[in-house]
Amino acid sequence: MQAQTSRDSAPPGRQALIWQLLSAALSAVTSGAAAPTVLDCGGGSGSFAVPLAQAGAQVTVVDISVDALATLQRRADEAGVGGRVHAVQGDVEALTDAVGSGGFDLVLAHGILGAVDDLPAAFAAVAASVRPGGRLSVLVANPVAGVLARALAADVSAALAELRALDTAFAQPGPDAVRALCRAHGLLIDQVHGIGVFTELVPGRALEQPGAREALDALEFESATRSPFCDIAARVHLLARRPAG
Ligand SMILES: C[S@@+](CC[C@H](N)C(=O)[O-])C[C@H]1O[C@@H](n2cnc3c(N)ncnc32)[C@H](O)[C@@H]1O
Repeated sequence: MQAQTSRDSAPPGRQALIWQLLSAALSAVTSGAAAPTVLDCGGGSGSFAVPLAQAGAQVTVVDISVDALATLQRRADEAGVGGRVHAVQGDVEALTDAVGSGGFDLVLAHGILGAVDDLPAAFAAVAASVRPGGRLSVLVANPVAGVLARALAADVSAALAELRALDTAFAQPGPDAVRALCRAHGLLIDQVHGIGVFTELVPGRALEQPGAREALDALEFESATRSPFCDIAARVHLLARRPAG
């Protein structure tokens, strides 16, 4: 089966680059006639689960929030893919209880690693659910960008405190922590992109100029892998792979 990557199913605007990376990952893990299987950990109301189902995947979403899952199911039904989206209420830290062990072609952990109490345990469960040859897509906040954001908001003391916290165990799990966890769980990182390098910095009114939105999109795409821009992005996307058996 060929993953369908129609632009109709693409999440809009600031999610465009992530969607492009996910579409490519889905194609990479799709072979033969079987629909690829996706596990979206903390997938919420389905910003990516629904488009991935529209692209042909069988998607399981595990989320702790009953309300988010109800919204997910409604959005999936409205998009005509209710049968391809399986909503499971559960805690990512007890992922095996929710979905059993392993075997997914593509696993998403977007915006969830900063929300769990026990990061090593949660990451171990997420990593274990990626089949050999499968992909793991992680989106985390970038603590470095947090320091900049505080300073730009004129909260200099908070910026200093966040800077000093970068090297402590209490810092938000950022890209370095994810790199170390991937290594520890036998996952190889293929790609790293900064997400929202400029989007968070450009004032909304600037985007009312003709062509400004398109220029901002191009700026985001072209700076996403380019140092030092990607290093100060608000969020970082990492795509990892479990080597095939
Ligand atoms: C920031 S939202 C991200 C939603 C989605 N992944 C996205 O990128 O749009 C975090 C989601 O994780 C869920 N969540 C928080 N802690 C969780 C846990 N321990 N287990 C499962 N889901 C959790 C929340 O209910 C919420 O839907």
